Amino acid sequence: MRILVIGGAGYIGSHVARAFLDRGYAVTVFDNFQTGLRENLFDEAAFVHGDIMRPEQLRAVMTGGGFDGCVHLAAMKAAGQSMLKPEIYAEANIAGTINILNQASAAGIARVIFSSSAAVYGTPQYLPIDEEHPKEPENFYGFTKLEIERLLEWYDKLKGMRYAAIRYFNAAGYDVRGRIKGLELNPENLLPIVMETAAGIRPKLSIFGDDYPTRDGSCIRDYVHVSDLAEAHVTAFEYILQKEQSITVNLGSQTGVTVFEMVERARAITGRSVSAEVSGRRAGDPSELVASSAKARELLGWVPKYSDVDTLIGSTWKMYEKFVTF
Ligand code: UFG
Repeated sequence: MRILVIGGAGYIGSHVARAFLDRGYAVTVFDNFQTGLRENLFDEAAFVHGDIMRPEQLRAVMTGGGFDGCVHLAAMKAAGQSMLKPEIYAEANIAGTINILNQASAAGIARVIFSSSAAVYGTPQYLPIDEEHPKEPENFYGFTKLEIERLLEWYDKLKGMRYAAIRYFNAAGYDVRGRIKGLELNPENLLPIVMETAAGIRPKLSIFGDDYPTRDGSCIRDYVHVSDLAEAHVTAFEYILQKEQSITVNLGSQTGVTVFEMVERARAITGRSVSAEVSGRRAGDPSELVASSAKARELLGWVPKYSDVDTLIGSTWKMYEKFVTF
């Protein structure tokens, strides 16, 4: 089986490419290196340097490539930035996806696995969040993901394009076997920021709020290991291949962890003092996000293996400890 991984040099994309290679697929990675990294490429995978904003570059890789499906992970993902520069998100995420779908359909690639997000739900109206939860994104990033899911529904109906829309909760961790070499540049998420602080790359961590209605006042999130996410892309592909029907699933560990708990555990695992200071709340942060992943467990047989806090932190620290400067 041949798979095209668009955005396959990125943080999640490289883990997804790895998971398909591990299962014996022939993988081609397509990436423009805007945030993806050359060191995230694998010798066993083919690579094409290209941009989803250039339909002719998509056409060149897709036509005659014999792909059984493609995974689409090429997107802008900073929720805060999407509120300041919506035009960039509209273009890269929505227009970029239209290019992918149109070129895939012209090239006869009838299956797509799409990186969606828990951001499609907005502020939780109940917990845990299942797939039927109302979709009211609170940031433009989440809106783009929801729009793309709607496009996928129409392409399924009108063009027979089968899809798996995978709604990630908080992706974290690194391949436990150390096979991913690139560190995300300018990370905006909690765990890499905690690790940068532990390693001395940044002086201190800001904890965004300690007055939420949670057990210790900091926000609760559902962290899920990126290798568990990656594995689900392969099983989701096999599901749509065998059943010939589309699927939308949440992927989360179904466990809520607070910011303080994450920092405390990071101190214990790294043996480093992680200097932290409580600052004000960050706009748009819901107090608690926890997934129900019952559907993925039932339909895909997905069981997270690495999503416990210690493995999340331990596998990330392996990437950062080499930067310890004092
Ligand atoms: N946080 C801090 N300090 C930091 C960074 C984060 O206290 O320096 C806190 C945040 O306030 C939040 C938690 O750590 O409570 C996690 O924040 P992240 O920025 O790592 O992640 P988010 O929960 O904001 O969002 C992530 C992805 C989104 C996705 C969402 C789904 O970035 O794309 O998870 O759950 F939609």
